[in-house]
Parts: sequence; C-alpha cells; structure tokens
Amino acid sequence: MRKSNVDLYDPEYVSGMFDRMSKTYGFANLLTSFGFTSRWRRQCIGDLPPIKESAKGFDLMSGMGEAWTEIQKLINSKGQIIAVDISDEMNRKAAKHIKRLKNKNIELKQINILQNNIPSESADFVISTFGLKTFNDEQQAILAKEIARILKPGGSFSLIEISEPKVLLLKWIYMFYLKIIIPLIGKMFLGNSEDYRMLGKYCASFKSSKHFHERLISERLKSNYKNYFYGCATGVYGIK
Ligand SMILES: C[S@@+](CC[C@H](N)C(=O)[O-])C[C@H]1O[C@@H](n2cnc3c(N)ncnc32)[C@H](O)[C@@H]1O
Repeated sequence: MRKSNVDLYDPEYVSGMFDRMSKTYGFANLLTSFGFTSRWRRQCIGDLPPIKESAKGFDLMSGMGEAWTEIQKLINSKGQIIAVDISDEMNRKAAKHIKRLKNKNIELKQINILQNNIPSESADFVISTFGLKTFNDEQQAILAKEIARILKPGGSFSLIEISEPKVLLLKWIYMFYLKIIIPLIGKMFLGNSEDYRMLGKYCASFKSSKHFHERLISERLKSNYKNYFYGCATGVYGIK
C-alpha cells in the first residue's frame, strides 16, 4: 500500500521500508547489481584516507553489515566498527551477521543518525555505503554537520551512493533499469515490487553526491568528489 501523500524522507517511513526489504535485500543486491555494489563498496573503502589498524569508527546506514568485511581488512582486533542503522530488521540481521564473523569487533547502534547522541570527536573514520539516497537536501546538511562533529581532527571519511550518470544514453539505460527492471525483478523473484520501485525514485531525486560534497565542504571538511563507473555511483572521501 503506497499513498501519494507519504513523505519518502520521513525516517519512520524509511525505516519501515528497510524492515520490509530486509527479507530480500542481500539476495536482491546480488541479483540486481551484477556485482557492481560489492565492487563500489570495495572502492569506497579503498578511497578512505589511511587509518591506524587500531582505529575506531562508524559504518553509517550499515544495513546488515555489507561493508564490514572490507572495513575489517583495514583494522585489527583492537580497532572497532560502530554500525549505525535505524531499521529493526536490518539490525536483527546485522546481529546474526556478527555471530558469523571471526573478528567480532562490531557494536550495533540502532538510532536515527540525524538525531544521535554520539560523542563529538570520537571517530577515527566514518564510512557509508549506499545510505545517502534516502536523505533529502536538508537531511544531508544535518548528516554533513554530524560527520564533521563526530570525526576526530585528522579523521577520515568515505561515502558512496548510487547516482544518475551524466552521459545521456547511459542515464536512460541505467534509470530504466533502476525504475522498471529492478521493480520487475522485485515482483517476480522477491515478492516486493513497490519498495524496489522506490530505489529508482530516491536515486532520481538524489542525482549525485555533489550536494552532500558541498555540505561537507561548508562544514570545513577536506572533501573530494568521485565518480564511480561513469557516474552510476558517486562518492565523497577526505579528512577533517
Ligand atoms: C540501502 S541500505 C545500505 C546498507 C549497506 N550499507 C549496504 O552497503 O548495502 C540503507 C540503510 O540505511 C538505513 N537508514 C536509512 N535512514 C537512516 C537514518 N536516518 N539513520 C540510520 N540509518 C538509516 C536503512 O535502514 C538501511 O538499512
């Protein structure tokens, strides 16, 4: 059931949507991205400016922990990942994921990142993979402020999100894929076309990480902007 007057950026709505998608999110990722999302996660984490092996930091909008294997390659057992996600069900699956890991240096924090009580200057790094698109411009400004507050001076960050490519032909093909093919796959294989349809909608409104990059610069972070695969994903990385 989808009402036209629903606020797509209401954290409660977003959280409910990911609760529903949690049943199929892992499989859908694999099925619909041809391995691109794994590659982009790897590239995003590869672009994080160097951190100590004992670094402690945040995986924001962590989902079920899809980025942890890559983050754990950068830190040792003294290091720590604090995983932040608003969705009950995503966190439940994330807790199961931790049980399967050899290195269990991960703490789950179920909160809305836009209203958090994370101590200032407590993080050596902040990472986020595919967690930006469900924030509107105003929320992105709050998120940028929070990242600037949470990071220690000299702390590193890297975030990536699915985006709308600039090259027209690629944009048409990619958006057709996101808006039509993925919901169809959602309907045929995952029993959930509506929530997967939202992916294209969020992506079309988000466009790219450019706005977020500008907000980070306004917060005096040294942010670099990057295109991944001709702009099908875009990201930001840098230091405080
Ligand atoms: C597309 S998933 C990304 C999951 C994972 N990082 C990945 O690479 O696949 C986005 C996640 O962001 C979470 N999220 C959305 N809004 C949030 C908020 N305001 N605070 C915390 N988490 C949020 C959702 O619950 C969802 O699990």
